[in-house]
Amino acid sequence: ITIFVPRDAAALALGAERVATAIAREIETRGLDARIVRNGSRGMHWLEPLVEVRTEKGRIAYGPVRPSDVPSLFEAGFLQGADHPLCRGRTKEIPFLARQTRLTFARCGVTDPLSLEDYRHYQGMKGLEKAVTMQPADIVQQVTDSGLRGRGGAGFPTGIKWKTVLDAPGAQKYIVCNADEGDSGTFADRMIMEGDPFVLIEGMAIAGLATGATKGFIYTRSEYPHAIETMTAAVEIARKAGILGPSVLGSGKAFDMEVRVGAGAYVCGEETALLNSLEGKRGIVRAKPPLPALQGFLGRPTVVNNVISLASVPVIMDRGAAFYRDFGMGRSRGTIPIQVAGNIKYGGLFETAFGLTLGEIVDDIGGGTASGRPVRAVQVGGPLGAYFPRALFDTPFDYEAFAAKDGLIGHAGITVFDDTVDMLKQARFAMEFCAVESCGKCTPCRIGSTRGVETADKIAQGIEPQKNRELLADLCNTMKFGSLCALGGFTPYPVLSAMNHFPEDFSPAPIAEAAE
Ligand code: NAI
Ligand code: SF4
Repeated sequence: ITIFVPRDAAALALGAERVATAIAREIETRGLDARIVRNGSRGMHWLEPLVEVRTEKGRIAYGPVRPSDVPSLFEAGFLQGADHPLCRGRTKEIPFLARQTRLTFARCGVTDPLSLEDYRHYQGMKGLEKAVTMQPADIVQQVTDSGLRGRGGAGFPTGIKWKTVLDAPGAQKYIVCNADEGDSGTFADRMIMEGDPFVLIEGMAIAGLATGATKGFIYTRSEYPHAIETMTAAVEIARKAGILGPSVLGSGKAFDMEVRVGAGAYVCGEETALLNSLEGKRGIVRAKPPLPALQGFLGRPTVVNNVISLASVPVIMDRGAAFYRDFGMGRSRGTIPIQVAGNIKYGGLFETAFGLTLGEIVDDIGGGTASGRPVRAVQVGGPLGAYFPRALFDTPFDYEAFAAKDGLIGHAGITVFDDTVDMLKQARFAMEFCAVESCGKCTPCRIGSTRGVETADKIAQGIEPQKNRELLADLCNTMKFGSLCALGGFTPYPVLSAMNHFPEDFSPAPIAEAAE
C-alpha cells in the first residue's frame, strides 16, 4: 500500500510533516505493510495537507488532514480508500483538477519528485531522448512552431530567443533558468522545482542541445529552501544517471548544470540584474542592448528563460509542436499555470489552455472570496500587474487581450480582493514596493517611487487632492516611459489601474479642498 503525503512547502507550512510522522507511527503500531511517498503538491491549497492512498479504484484523496485526524483515518479504513469526513473521492475527479489541462504539471503531485523511475514511468525523458537525435536547428524550429512564449511574464517567443543564441558566435554559451519567482502570489516555479525537478532538468538539457550551450544555472531565491534542496538532489541524481555530464544520454554531447542561490532582491528576477548577481556582482540592472542572448553570463551568449518556459519544452519535444500549439487562443498558444491567491475560496495552481475569462477563473474555479464578501478587484501579474474590476471580468487569459485592457498576464499570478480593499492604499503599496526594491540605477524609478508614496499620502490626507491625483498620474507616465527596466516601468500599472477603475477611493473626504 502506498500513501502520498506532500513535501511541497505549502503543504509543509500547513503541517504535512507532522501528518507524515503521525501516519508512520500508526503504520508501525498497527504492524501494517504500507509505505509513505513524499510527493509534490497537486496545487489545491485549501485541501493541504492532501493525503492520498493508491487503491484498486485509483488514488483516493483525503484533506485537509491534521495530525489528530490520522487515527480516525486508519480506523475508517482509508488504506482501502474507505469513506471518511475528509474523503474527497478519486483525486483526479476533484473538479478543480478534472477541469485542468496538465501538460507542464502532468507529474506534479503524482510522482515521487526524486524518483527517476517514476519520472520515466510517467512519460518523462522522452523529449530529451528525441532531442539527442536531432540537429540543434530542428529542435529550435520545433520550439518555435509550438508557439511557446516566455512564461516569466514578457511572453517573448522562446524559439526566437533560442535561435538568437544558436546563431550567435561563441565557443561557450549558457542556459540560465530564472527561478527567482519574486512576484507575490506566485508559486508555479517553486511547485515544479519541489514536485517535478527532472522536468526542469530535462528542459534545460534540451535547451543546451538546441543552442550549443554546455553549462546551465538555476538561479533561485534563498526563501525557497525546499526547492533548493530538491533541485540540488535531482541534479546530482541526473548526473549519476548520465542525463547530465560529458555525454547526455550517451549522445556524446555535453551538458551540466548547478543550482545558485540569490540573496532575495526582487530586482534579481530581472534578467540582467540576475546575470550580475550570478557573476558575483551587485544585483543591478544592465542596459539592453546588448541582449543577454548575445552577451549574457560573463559576456557570452546566454538563454535566460523562466522555469515554466523550460519545463514546458519536454512535452513539446515529446508530443510535437502541433500538439502543444493546438491549445490556446490567438497568439497565446499552449497552456498556462494560473496561480490563484489572495482572498479566494479555492486557491491554488490551475493549468489550462489560454482563453478562460478572468471571471471564470475567479468565480467558477476559485469559487469567489474566502471571506464570502463580493470580489471587488483582482490584481493580475504580480505586484506590477494591473487591478481589474468586475466590469473587465470578460477579459480572456491571453497576452494580447490583457495588454489591450492596460494590463498584463505576467507570471500568471492573480490575487483576489473583496470589497473591504482600499485601492488608494494598494496604489501606495505599489509605489512603496518599488521604492524598497528599486536597484537605484535610474532616476524615474529611484526618485519617482518615493515621490509616488508621498503623493498618495497627500491624497489620503485630503491635501489638494485634484492636483495630487494629476501629479500621481503624471509621475506614472514618467516612470512608465523613462525607467530602464520593468520594475520602475510597470509600477504604474497597479497605480493607474487603481485610479482609473476605482476613482472613488482616490477622493477622500475633502478636508483641505476648501483651502485649494
Ligand atoms: P522584455 O520584453 O525586455 O524581454 C523579454 C525577453 O526577450 C528577455 O529575455 C529579452 O532578453 C528577450 N529578447 C527581446 N528581444 C530579443 C531578441 N531580438 N532576441 C532574443 N531575445 C530577445 O521583458 P523583461 O524585462 O525581460 O521582463 C518583463 C516581464 O517580467 C514583465 O512582463 C513582468 O510580468 C515579468 N516579471 C516577472 C516576475 C516573476 O516573478 N516571474 C517578477 C517581475 C516581473
Ligand atoms: Fe533599477 Fe528601477 Fe531603473 Fe529598474 S527601473 S533599472 S529597478 S532603478
